[in-house]
Amino acid sequence: MTVPAAKKLNQLLFDGNPFEKANDRAPEFIDEGWASYPEVLDTTIDVLKPKVIVEIGTWLGQSTFNMLERALSHDPEASIICVDTWLGSPEHWFNPAWKAGLRLENGRPNIYPIFVDNVRAKGFEDYIVPLSMTSLQAAKLLKEINLSPDLIYLDGAHDKDEVLSDIENYWPFLSASGCMVGDDFCDEWPGVVEAVHKFKKDRTDLDFQHARDKFVFYKL
Ligand SMILES: C[S@@+](CC[C@H](N)C(=O)[O-])C[C@H]1O[C@@H](n2cnc3c(N)ncnc32)[C@H](O)[C@@H]1O
Repeated sequence: MTVPAAKKLNQLLFDGNPFEKANDRAPEFIDEGWASYPEVLDTTIDVLKPKVIVEIGTWLGQSTFNMLERALSHDPEASIICVDTWLGSPEHWFNPAWKAGLRLENGRPNIYPIFVDNVRAKGFEDYIVPLSMTSLQAAKLLKEINLSPDLIYLDGAHDKDEVLSDIENYWPFLSASGCMVGDDFCDEWPGVVEAVHKFKKDRTDLDFQHARDKFVFYKL
């Protein structure tokens, strides 16, 4: 059995396991997030059997664990690279329930430690790479390491300009015949819908599909 790509990348970037903690307290799993309608991702993963997934927008990891568990059922070395500032998005500040989820401490969101606990509780330390930065910064870092994911899942920013920039920045990384799936392609998030239509207009290198609240771009 070979080593999962995430374990190698964690060694390169963090000199080992980034989820290791000084104390040996048993990590608590907190099941909170969106991961809405995961069946589109399940179907895509069953078709692609991805070795490497990149996720933009992880929060506490609900969508991460759904995708990883499905991918590991096909390939025991499947890995997922999680890109998130773990600082939330502007919309989190104006929805009272979402704002509580930011767990503000001294005026700053405090989400990342819960994600770390969740990864440890799941035992996925060797299968997940945490990139705690903006999607734009992560795109520059990933370019340096010549990564070619089979599946890219977008669920970070939701306004038109940032979604379009995420699609444009990450599309070139996608492996031949790979797939980009994005969340919130629906009336409630017009910025996502506009960005998707703008990106796909006049392109001949993708096949566009959508189901429930997800858009899917297959790379041709
Ligand atoms: C809707 S949540 C992700 C939910 C998660 N996929 C789930 O299903 O539970 C959006 C996440 O994107 C992150 N985010 C927003 N804009 C970002 C950006 N430009 N770069 C990196 N992360 C970003 C936020 O910190 C937040 O955790």
